[in-house]
Amino acid sequence: MPVVHVIDHPLVQHKLTLMREKDRSTNSFRRLMHELSMLMAYEVTRDMPTQLIDIETPLETMRSPVIDGKKIVFVSVMRAGGGFLDGMLEIIPGARVGHVGLYRDPRTLVAVEYYFKMPDHMEERDAIVLDPMLATGNSAAAAVERVKECRPRSIRFVSLLAAPEGLQNFHAQHPDVPVYTASIDRQLNEHGYILPGLGDAGDRLFGTK
Ligand code: URA
Repeated sequence: MPVVHVIDHPLVQHKLTLMREKDRSTNSFRRLMHELSMLMAYEVTRDMPTQLIDIETPLETMRSPVIDGKKIVFVSVMRAGGGFLDGMLEIIPGARVGHVGLYRDPRTLVAVEYYFKMPDHMEERDAIVLDPMLATGNSAAAAVERVKECRPRSIRFVSLLAAPEGLQNFHAQHPDVPVYTASIDRQLNEHGYILPGLGDAGDRLFGTK
């Protein structure tokens, strides 16, 4: 059964509302994305394995849990995935980073790959694929397909917003990959944009048009 985690924490929802506003500046949009990605990192790593290490508190020794950051690979789906990356890395600074470059053919909405680079030994690592907008699901599915070729230990997908059609398309191809999102919006429009959505995430992040 495909799993979708909707992160309905009030702080996440508050910041998402601010991001949706059309008159928000590039600077403010980027800062909110950064803050949201830190909050979402918390949720997406909730069931990550920990190991016990020996430490000394000021009073005595103990065995205490840590995560092995090096085993986590954030995979940024360019270009908007970059907006998620910095905040996630702030929470898990030892994580490795992969990149998948995809653009949507504006006519067919099909994802076309132009770049792919991943860390080695993926079989020892957990991949967390980042793309703020899961719209048609074509780019998300194509990115996950490529990441799967590297045989990571596990894969999760994180988006800020998802469209119901995109989730269905994505999970038809990858029922084994859980999706973490802050909102499932109403629908896609005829150009593949999410409604009500927040517009073009890449353009709003980078101040392009
Ligand atoms: N990509 C975006 O940036 N926004 C959408 O609404 C859909 C895809």
